[in-house]
Amino acid sequence: MVYTLVSNINEISTSNIKPITIAGKEILIINYDNQYYVINRKCTHFGGDLSRGKLVDGIITCPNHGSKFDIKSGKSISGPKIGFLKLSTKDIKTYNLKVENNLILIDL
Ligand code: FES
Repeated sequence: MVYTLVSNINEISTSNIKPITIAGKEILIINYDNQYYVINRKCTHFGGDLSRGKLVDGIITCPNHGSKFDIKSGKSISGPKIGFLKLSTKDIKTYNLKVENNLILIDL
């Protein structure tokens, strides 16, 4: 694994989401209860911007059609709801990370 420096922990306060682009990948660094998680920024449905999503109890909700993803596992908890239709969507990609000397490094 090759880890890449992406942020200092002081740049992301609790329950905050920091979007960044690194090596052509759009990702979110999430501080949830002072644990850090990294997921893709774009929803697996139609690419909704999860940096504008709501984060509650470790679940992020897409602002477009309401798909929900577990930020720890990336698992799709529920798919989009469009009118009366309830659809499914793929899990979201997560990344391994480590924190060293207050720096967040991820395995891209
Ligand atoms: S784009 Fe995210 S739920 Fe549709």
